[in-house]
Amino acid sequence: MRRSHSKLLQKWLKNLANLKTASITKRLASLGSDRWAVHFESRRRVKAGEDIIELTIGEPDIPTPTHLLDVASTSMRSGRTRYAGGKGEPNLLQAVADKYSVRTGRAISFDQVLAFPGTQAALTITVMSLVETGDAVLVPDPYYATYEGVVQAAGAEFVPVPMSHGNDFHLTTDQLESAITPNSKVLLLNSPHNPTGAVLTAEEVRAIGEVCQKHNLWIVSDEVYEPLIYKGEFSSPFDMEPFADRTIAMASISKSHAAPGFRSGWAVGPKWVMDEIQHVSEAILFGGQPFIADMTAHALSHPDGTSDEMAANYSSRIALLMDAFKGSHLVPLEPSAGMFMLIDVSASGLTGEDFAMKLLDSGVSVMPGSSFGSQCEKFIRLSLTVDNDKLKIAAQRIIVFASSI
Ligand SMILES: Cc1ncc(COP(=O)(O)O)c(C=O)c1O
Repeated sequence: MRRSHSKLLQKWLKNLANLKTASITKRLASLGSDRWAVHFESRRRVKAGEDIIELTIGEPDIPTPTHLLDVASTSMRSGRTRYAGGKGEPNLLQAVADKYSVRTGRAISFDQVLAFPGTQAALTITVMSLVETGDAVLVPDPYYATYEGVVQAAGAEFVPVPMSHGNDFHLTTDQLESAITPNSKVLLLNSPHNPTGAVLTAEEVRAIGEVCQKHNLWIVSDEVYEPLIYKGEFSSPFDMEPFADRTIAMASISKSHAAPGFRSGWAVGPKWVMDEIQHVSEAILFGGQPFIADMTAHALSHPDGTSDEMAANYSSRIALLMDAFKGSHLVPLEPSAGMFMLIDVSASGLTGEDFAMKLLDSGVSVMPGSSFGSQCEKFIRLSLTVDNDKLKIAAQRIIVFASSI
């Protein structure tokens, strides 16, 4: 009796030891926590009572506008809490289509749109729908920290395309051409760009589009910073007729309406491919929240001053930092857009990563440039999302720390 018991136990333990997870979990394992190590350490220390000014993540520092909260709350209370359609709620799809019809000057139909819980989900589900093992995705380097995960989730090869500090990290056609192989299927384009704040000109976008056309590449265009431009003008391959049939553009209300916690975004592209992406989206999401769709549709169809207010704040903070670092041996890269600034810390003798980790002891947390690719290792990235007084103190602490090395 006792022997059969222990046999059963052994079998049970053996079976447990043989339970495995799929390779996707390993591919993504080092991409999350590693990149955010300084941020997590900073959060831990702040919780323990340390005085640290956090300039790590890009969270708008103004509240979500009250009129949007009112729409969401009224909608929720009126019963808009049932299952939504797989593409998204019709009012939201129409509001997104209207936005892009105005922007592109073409008639964009609601059936070219899919709703997603944020740009991040739009990126991942779109890339998963376009590529698989054996395919390659071209990603200009530096790049937003989650992009490697987006590509790895699909099982495709992540191919960084090195950009150059020398031309303020604007992707050139030569850089793109030299990374293309027969496996290349997608260019993951991001303008305005995080972390560099670069805004591609219409000529640059056109030239990049022509290379994608020549090599028959999809263009996945992450446009989440469209409303936060201080220098130059927004342009997108989706707005250019020759490239519209190979471009899927995506964005959200996270940055534009100071509403990242609502997780509300969308993607727009050629109808046939959006129909196919919908299959993947439904398998993962099975629709969104109707009350958030109502709030997002309202946000898109009732422009308010939220993004203008944030843009004014961020550009005044850029000026403040440019001024603060003048005369120090730290060299800021003035961003043309977005909510971040890169600072070249190479004169300190430290890598961006060491600089960021050691800087915590001086009361400031920043992201190491290495979280954004190999072309960014000599930089730290500062978020512009604290008020001017705090930012001034943070800049002082950074300068004092750098001169103490
Ligand atoms: C370039 C870029 N893309 C996508 C995202 C994610 O945006 P969302 O909140 O819409 O998922 C971010 C967030 O910081 C970003 O910087």
